Amino acid sequence: MKGIIFTEFLGLVEQKWDEDMVDDIIEACDLPSGGAYTAVGTYDHREIVALVSELSERSGVAVPDLLQVYGKHLFGKLAASYPEFVNKASSLLTFLEGVESYIHVEVRKLYPDAELPSFETRRPDPGVLEMIYRSSRHLDDVCHGLIEGSIAHFKTEASIEREPLDDGTMFVIRCQ
Ligand code: HEM
Repeated sequence: MKGIIFTEFLGLVEQKWDEDMVDDIIEACDLPSGGAYTAVGTYDHREIVALVSELSERSGVAVPDLLQVYGKHLFGKLAASYPEFVNKASSLLTFLEGVESYIHVEVRKLYPDAELPSFETRRPDPGVLEMIYRSSRHLDDVCHGLIEGSIAHFKTEASIEREPLDDGTMFVIRCQ
């Protein structure tokens, strides 16, 4: 998993708690990387799971809630780092449809070793998008937060429903 995922997570912990919390969770997790992440490096995705579990224990905030808040925060950072991917889309739903067919394709060109999920999309109605998320990393809550971040970015009134499937999770985004 790319270092940006980790540096943004630790940045969020520092913003919501403080630098001591960052140091404490890194120390408690005994990570193979030692917690020294660079944006372009690649690290085991289980390190983020370990850091989030440790933060949950220390803060009393449930792991799914932490991952979702993190996903929303991460979207803001990704959109700021790669504005061309976000500005091209004319609407929230066309943007989300393009995550699989355009954005993550471009990400893969930049970082051939990126570990990306797959999305299957369907538009059952012009104002509705169904996205099936599949990933061996099962970061459904991060995905939920990334969709929330996208909704906030496009300033669109929309709801998110989530439905577990046998081999993934379906997100239904409905614009009001
Ligand atoms: C500007 C927009 C975006 C950029 C530049 C971007 C880029 C990236 C990058 C660099 C990673 C990390 C890959 C790795 O660690 O190896 C990633 C992972 C991920 N992205 Fe995106 N992304 C964007 C938008 C989105 C959106 C809107 C969604 C949700 C609909 C999404 C879903 C995910 C998920 C869930 C992961 C975690 C990996 C996994 O679940 O397997 N991304 N993305």
